[in-house]
Amino acid sequence: MSRRIAILPDAVADQIAAGEVVERPASVVKELVENALDAGARHVRVELEHGGKTLIQVSDDGSGMGREDAVLAIDRHATSKVRSVADLVGVATFGFRGEALPAIASVSRFSLATHDGEGAGTELAVTGGRLDRVSDTVRQRGTTVTVRSVFFNTPARRKFLRSVSSETRAAHEAVATLALAHPEAGFELQVDGACRLAVPADQNADERIAAVWGRELAATLVPVTYAAGAFRITGLVQRPGDAQPTGRRTQLFVNGRPFRDPFLVRAGEAGYRSAIHPGDRPSMLLRIEVSAGEVDVNVHPAKLEVRFRDRIGVERAVEEAVRSALGTLAAAANVGGAGGQWGGGAAAPELPPMVAGDLFAPHEASGEDEEPVESGALGFTVPLLQAFDTYILYEAPEGIVIVDQHSAHERILYETVMRQLAGSDAPAQRLLLPLTLELTDEELDAVEAHGEELRRVGFEAEAFGGRTVVLHAVPAPHPRFDAGACFREMVADLARGRFGGWANRLERFAATFACRAAVKAGARLDQREMRELLLRLFATELPPHDVHGRSTIVQLPREELERRFGRR
Ligand SMILES: Nc1ncnc2c1ncn2[C@@H]1O[C@H](COP(=O)(O)OP(=O)(O)OP(=O)(O)O)[C@@H](O)[C@H]1O
Ligand SMILES: [Mg+2]
Repeated sequence: MSRRIAILPDAVADQIAAGEVVERPASVVKELVENALDAGARHVRVELEHGGKTLIQVSDDGSGMGREDAVLAIDRHATSKVRSVADLVGVATFGFRGEALPAIASVSRFSLATHDGEGAGTELAVTGGRLDRVSDTVRQRGTTVTVRSVFFNTPARRKFLRSVSSETRAAHEAVATLALAHPEAGFELQVDGACRLAVPADQNADERIAAVWGRELAATLVPVTYAAGAFRITGLVQRPGDAQPTGRRTQLFVNGRPFRDPFLVRAGEAGYRSAIHPGDRPSMLLRIEVSAGEVDVNVHPAKLEVRFRDRIGVERAVEEAVRSALGTLAAAANVGGAGGQWGGGAAAPELPPMVAGDLFAPHEASGEDEEPVESGALGFTVPLLQAFDTYILYEAPEGIVIVDQHSAHERILYETVMRQLAGSDAPAQRLLLPLTLELTDEELDAVEAHGEELRRVGFEAEAFGGRTVVLHAVPAPHPRFDAGACFREMVADLARGRFGGWANRLERFAATFACRAAVKAGARLDQREMRELLLRLFATELPPHDVHGRSTIVQLPREELERRFGRR
């Protein structure tokens, strides 16, 4: 058996930035999974208990280690990956410093079981950096590292660990990132006995993204392929219309290695120009290929950041890559968000008079007249078209206007509800047969905490013992309103702290109600309903986006059409 691990000469060791490799369970997970991948694993299994605070275990089916190498591996600066200063530049493998295992073993109850396929397997146990035991073990080829009670001997660091859920999230993120970087390997993540991620080996990049980010998000992404100068950029970015202010995912790779760089993400966002609302945060996954000499990956102790020789060049390349991917998409969509003539109260001076019928007002039931008063001011004598049961389209002098019906109604309701919360109660509709709902404990708490606001918007809810709530009266914001479903969704949102970014609790509540009570995408509207919705929309004073920050109105300017059809 050949000895593969070399002790770094001091000169090399000294050139390596000293730094903490082990900051939290997620960093342990990252180092161990990287080692497994470096060892050629086809399948990596990660197990966590209590966010990794009590247990982190990483098993692989890679090369394994012979006994001598296994003992050396927990020695500081033992590494199989670097032999000279020259090797320090460029991306070859993940590690080169040979300090991850010793660092982890020095702050935990650590054990390593490994077998390289020759002779007996080896198991060794280390407590707080002290080698306790080396013994034979029977196992398949590969390595299992078990880290218990991380930071048990460094209470100051232990104190800095976050909640179990936050440590779990960070560790999950670390596994997800490596799974995206290595679609050829299979990954499994078990958290407190439950499977959180399971992806098979030999996926292609697209399958892997869908498996890790979810099919729903993956379906909103468009491919990027770009090359300029020293840089080649591929990957996927989100269609502008699907970008949202929260919940985005981003991932950058340089020469296959994941890294973090908020400024490059920002450069990617710049590629959207005005195609997205300023508050929107598009998801993106970008793979940058550049010759090894152009990038230094060893500037960060945990190798999370990299340094590009041509900083301006890489930022420009990322921005251009995104822009070219959006290309025609962006050209059509850059009409939304940026203001335009419906940009809030001040920019829409010619508001039509309010119509009599109020289908979309939460106050009264509608009048009976078939055709509401027409207003020439906004060209509403023109027919309205509903597309996909979701968008209302019409022709305006300056172009085609497209309104998202749900988003529009959300804006209307948000304003109305804010008024109601400030003063007058909304008229409620008393139910002949009260609705009975079963809620969770957290949802019951939310109902109790928001009892007054719920009453003001028209919900009369009574706790009925156990987890049952009875609704005696409900609001009626539109003809297709489903009071039970709306109430349920609202309390779930409130219990989960959705809209947590909103400044105060009333706004938070109003946003929740508006979102859940508004007419949904997919609801067929007739001419009259569409007209009323638009007239009410143009009487609101909110910015040109809804409570999620998504565009409410998109205009397709006439010049744009003319340009595209070659008339200009
Ligand atoms: N899962 C594994 N399978 C096989 N060999 C491993 C495994 N984990 C560690 N080793 C061996 O132990 C050595 C030390 O690992 P360690 O993570 O401490 O350092 P490194 O990966 O070389 O560098 P870095 O500090 O950058 O991670 C590795 O170079 C490798 O040879
Ligand atoms: Mg390593």
